[in-house]
Amino acid sequence: MNPIVLTNPLIQHKLSIIRNKKTGTKEFREIIGEIATFLCYEAMSDAELEEVEIETPIGKTKAKQLNENKYAFVPILRAGTGMLDGLINAIPNAKIGHVGLYRDEETLKPVRYYYKMPKDIANREVIVLDPMLATGGSASDTITMLKEDGVKKIKFLCIISAPEGIERLQKEHPDVEIYTASIDEKLNEIGYIVPGLGDAGDRIFGTK
Ligand code: PRP
Ligand code: URA
Repeated sequence: MNPIVLTNPLIQHKLSIIRNKKTGTKEFREIIGEIATFLCYEAMSDAELEEVEIETPIGKTKAKQLNENKYAFVPILRAGTGMLDGLINAIPNAKIGHVGLYRDEETLKPVRYYYKMPKDIANREVIVLDPMLATGGSASDTITMLKEDGVKKIKFLCIISAPEGIERLQKEHPDVEIYTASIDEKLNEIGYIVPGLGDAGDRIFGTK
């Protein structure tokens, strides 16, 4: 099943708060982090666990643990960094790479300005973060760069997606699983998601 859409009522409730234009920066930022944590839990449903022996206060037992060193998070600057804390809460030992991209307002094409990955990125499962999947250009370019670096397994997490972005990602990167809290109606004439939540970067950082 791809994309995987979170249908949990609590997530839908939180989404209604961040969609509201009256919601301020503090609450907006907190909820982006909370939803990101939920997306991370969902994205980890196929994670392989290792059996370890531990001792509880009552006695010895076998338990299952995640090898956190197998993962890397890659937020797309700027807005993707708003999701980062939510993921670090779930997997604190994952490494972090950054991709700097902004959308040219005229062409809507992503323009690259930064790329820095952990040295062993090719050996890690990578979870790419961006709250908005609109035309899909930024996500697709990021995934292409990661594949050029040898990354084999990539997942993409976003808060809100447009059908256009999903279609593009599925066409250009059919191997990448998409996790989202909502698939909205469409893009408007200037490439914004409808109804969406506006400009995620500006709302997270309070820049407008
Ligand atoms: C936004 C968003 C995505 C991109 C999505 O970033 O955070 O990165 O647009 O659009 P796309 O799917 O059409 O590529 P923006 O360019 O506004 O940069 P910012 O995060 O620095 O605000
Ligand atoms: N980027 C955003 O921040 N919001 C949109 O609706 C589309 C792209």
